[in-house]
Amino acid sequence: MSATIKLDAPFSHSLIDDAADPQVGRPLPRVDGPRKVAGQARYAAEHFPGGLAHGVLLRAPLGKGRITRLDGTAARAMPGVLAVVTDPRLIRNGGDFAGSAAPVQGVEEVVYFGQPVGVVVAETFEQARAAALMVTIDCAADDDGVFDMEAALDRAAPPTDDIFGLFLIHTEQGDVEAAMEAAAHRVDAVWTTPSHSHSAMEPHAAVATWEGDRLTLDASYQSPVTSRDQLATVLGIAPENVRFRSPFVGGGFGGKLGLMPEAAAAAIAAQQLGRPVKVVMTRQNVYETTGRRPATHQRLRLGADADGRLTAIAHETITDQLAGESFFEPAGIATHLLYAGANRLVDHKVVRVNKLLAVSMRAPGEAAGQLGLECAMDELAEQLGIDPVDLRLRNEPDRHPEDGMPFSSRGLVDCLQRGAERFGWSKRNRTPGAMRDGEWLIGHGMAASVRGNLYGPSAARVSIGGNGQVTIESEMTDIGTGTYTILTQIVADLLGVSSDRVEVRLGDTDSPRSAGSGGSWGAATAGSAVYAACEALRAQLAAAAGVPLAEARFADNALIARGARHPLARLAGEGMSVEGSTEPGENNARYSQAAYGAHFCEVRVNAVTGETRLSRWNSVFAAGRILNPRTATSQAIGGIVFGIGAALTEELVHDARTGKVVNRDLGEYHVPAHADIPAIDVLFLDERDFIANPLLLKGVGELGTCGSGAAVANAIYNATGVRVREFPVTLDKLL
Ligand code: MOS
Repeated sequence: MSATIKLDAPFSHSLIDDAADPQVGRPLPRVDGPRKVAGQARYAAEHFPGGLAHGVLLRAPLGKGRITRLDGTAARAMPGVLAVVTDPRLIRNGGDFAGSAAPVQGVEEVVYFGQPVGVVVAETFEQARAAALMVTIDCAADDDGVFDMEAALDRAAPPTDDIFGLFLIHTEQGDVEAAMEAAAHRVDAVWTTPSHSHSAMEPHAAVATWEGDRLTLDASYQSPVTSRDQLATVLGIAPENVRFRSPFVGGGFGGKLGLMPEAAAAAIAAQQLGRPVKVVMTRQNVYETTGRRPATHQRLRLGADADGRLTAIAHETITDQLAGESFFEPAGIATHLLYAGANRLVDHKVVRVNKLLAVSMRAPGEAAGQLGLECAMDELAEQLGIDPVDLRLRNEPDRHPEDGMPFSSRGLVDCLQRGAERFGWSKRNRTPGAMRDGEWLIGHGMAASVRGNLYGPSAARVSIGGNGQVTIESEMTDIGTGTYTILTQIVADLLGVSSDRVEVRLGDTDSPRSAGSGGSWGAATAGSAVYAACEALRAQLAAAAGVPLAEARFADNALIARGARHPLARLAGEGMSVEGSTEPGENNARYSQAAYGAHFCEVRVNAVTGETRLSRWNSVFAAGRILNPRTATSQAIGGIVFGIGAALTEELVHDARTGKVVNRDLGEYHVPAHADIPAIDVLFLDERDFIANPLLLKGVGELGTCGSGAAVANAIYNATGVRVREFPVTLDKLL
């Protein structure tokens, strides 16, 4: 049996609100936590099928050119070595999760430094690693490699694809030039952000096992079914013959959305050798051979009248990517809807470079784009001599400022006001450099936050066994976000079962297909699929009990009606099972949907060394219903830390001669550590979104990242009087 919820009309009510003993909304600790701390949650690299061999990737030692000779003779003679595999399919990447235009090169052609060109397989990892060093790779470099976007801005051209129609390559209305000319106050400047690396704690890893013509991959992916389809395409086999399992994923951030080279390498090598092969990326492999957030070059123009009302908003962005790839960073995406203003322009262009594949990274578009937009707003407020919170309040639109669509819900004003209150913003000294504590300059900064609320088809099966145990099965993943926990809470509320009677099985392509973990849509989509299944199960249970559904209450592991208690274990008989699914509909076409927030922070910048330390942080978010304040707050804090990293330290450095990633480990690619982060105060407003989905929630995963880095840069300006528009704001730029 199956049931679907299509988002075709506003919801007047959510069954979640009828729960007898509500679990949703409570800070239930992660149900998968005990397994994780006990080492029982098995990650991709922790699979050891019989006969397992180990592969180590061979990678191109040049940025653009050809491999003229790949000689594995010496490697093959080393102890334990089974094969040196080269195969043109290895080079094919599926990093583009839109699935279009992924380039297929011959094995000889190299387009970025570190591109996979082969895999050495041996009995042990150490043997394979040692042998890989003995493979001779001769190459001939082309002289037309492009390794620096900033030096090649004149080559910027429109992207090839609008990525599901979501990325809005170019929008224009009114006359920006004339409005800028006429504006009483204006900002016109360029902000740049460098490449970033996802740096998930768990490196990419895959174990490939063939049985006849069927392949099973234990791998670490955010959307196993998408990656399975990409691998099937690479291998030229039917997707039904490939099974991906990713029940536990140690972080993804977008870097595990599309197929990465370790999976293809393991599959191809295992097929050739006739035994299972594991390929675990080293940290250096992850940095050089998976994907990155592209660099951005953003020109922002803001014009305002004397009262601080925006008359012109233009955000022209350039990002970098390999030739032939459709993904681009939609850095102007928040600018479409964040502020009112009649004359508008948002534009995206791409420079084709010979650098590691650019892919989605946490809040693709918004994260980088709000570094520019929210800093430009701060500059404009200063020119106007008005408070930056006030500037945002004056430019609050009542409809989507481009297409006139109503907002499904929009809590930005409340977030700004509550955040200012919690931080004590009214006590801020507006004059840069005015607050000082010994050699530390103190500054306060703020920024708004917005992240689009996306939705996609998703399905899950919910079953009640004859013992009253409830099982949820979905291909959906938990990438550290809390999926296991929130799906447990939803089922507990809708079926009235205690959470210890719920078992969640995730990340298997044999289960109903989900939208995966990405784009902050996981909770909404997987949660709504589970909701659809439970809604149908409630009707089945009522029928089995012989009572009208309207009179049934679900509580205490039973259906209760007319004074009688019917245990679910009995009603389920031999067992009941429903596949629930959900899909976007009119609600998605007719409403502008986004989650909002505001960040406020205090920095201390050392007047002698230029070092920036954070000392206080308050963020307020409006993201509809919060399923679990513990996991949602954890997501918010993680996102804010991501933003702080982008503001202060994170930069993937490419060698200007080859594009090679120079800082390819966590020692050199600086993500914030605990000692860098103050106590972060997060408040979620009590909001419901009756358009978004039957759970009335909006995505929260990437919201914290959006705007947080700009709040830091704006605070640094308030402390020092120095505007740094080239991220990250490292100390050398402040001295
Ligand atoms: Mo996110 S960049 O969609 O994992």
